[in-house]
Amino acid sequence: MPLSPRSPYPVVSSSRLAANIARMQTLANHAGVRLRPHAKTHKSPVIARMQIEAGAVGICCAKLSEAAVFADAGITDIRIPYPVNPSNADRLLVLMERVRLSIIVDDADVAVDWSGAMVRARKVLDILVKVDVGTHRCGVNPDSPDVVNTITRIARLPGLSFRGILSHAGHTYNAESPYALAAIVARETEIMIGLAKRLREAGVPVEEISVGSTPAASLAPTQHGITEMRPGNYVFLDRTQVGLGSATYENCALFVVATVVSRPAPDRAILDCGSKTLTSDGARGFTDLPGYGAIFLSSNENQPDASIVIERVSEEHAVCRVPESSPLRPGDRVRVLPNHACTVTNLTDRLWLASDQGALAPLTVAARGRNW
Ligand SMILES: Cc1ncc(COP(=O)(O)O)c(C=O)c1O
Repeated sequence: MPLSPRSPYPVVSSSRLAANIARMQTLANHAGVRLRPHAKTHKSPVIARMQIEAGAVGICCAKLSEAAVFADAGITDIRIPYPVNPSNADRLLVLMERVRLSIIVDDADVAVDWSGAMVRARKVLDILVKVDVGTHRCGVNPDSPDVVNTITRIARLPGLSFRGILSHAGHTYNAESPYALAAIVARETEIMIGLAKRLREAGVPVEEISVGSTPAASLAPTQHGITEMRPGNYVFLDRTQVGLGSATYENCALFVVATVVSRPAPDRAILDCGSKTLTSDGARGFTDLPGYGAIFLSSNENQPDASIVIERVSEEHAVCRVPESSPLRPGDRVRVLPNHACTVTNLTDRLWLASDQGALAPLTVAARGRNW
């Protein structure tokens, strides 16, 4: 029996998806940098292939298990911009048999362990050093007096091939204005290009300077010296990207189709998509974006109805505050633009690709849950 979607289900506009892929590739081409999209957003080899056919040089994955799914599907160039621990060397070596693989390190002792594992296996692993450009998650501190010595030491270890340096300005998501966002990106590129210069002066060849996030995508790669960009979210976009000015509602490709299951009070309606569908992620942006997603009614396909706010989510319920005049009744359908598309994808076995005529085709989220 053919599959048919059951509410709630995530629907992806095929034409918007294609447009988002083309727009980012054009941006990278104009800036003269390589595009290596982060596949954690879609977790789908089908979409990864669309990105590569458009011109991407390969993909990024967050974890080895995620990478294995894309390797099984024939993707041959995968970067893992995540501090994979050397306790996973056996799994990584298996993957290296069929994929050009690179990882990041941000610790000299960890790099020594990777070096040992590669020397023992008679392999050479491509590595980049992760730099903390202000997100204060992973990465070497570029202001540390030892940073050039530390990276030089890592770059000279046997069994490792030092490719360059890599950053992710995740704090762009906390920017409070377009100017603050531009300042974060300017600082990121200043740090990365400055550090590469100091490394080259110390005799360390730096082939790659890789940056990447969707909010910074239209700014960072234009800086001379950057060689690669790694946005992920741009394929789908979401309410946060609209809030940060990186997208318009018309660009957003992924929505959750949901059903009103109760109207228990004049000012309250309940949808069948709770935190197990929308997640509990809030939206970020330059202005306050309350609630767990934006509601679109069929009466206006391109603007959310701001009078409806998803005030709470429990696992299977979205509790919406609605105007008393709202005609929403049990059985009615709405579309919800999620606050964060990447985490929504990971909660579902399949997406539904929608043609502009409304035909739906299932697309398996093949790397769903692959977080080990
Ligand atoms: C290391 C790294 N690179 C690239 C990305 C892609 O960023 P975005 O989701 O903003 O497109 C992420 C996102 O989490 C990341 O952690």
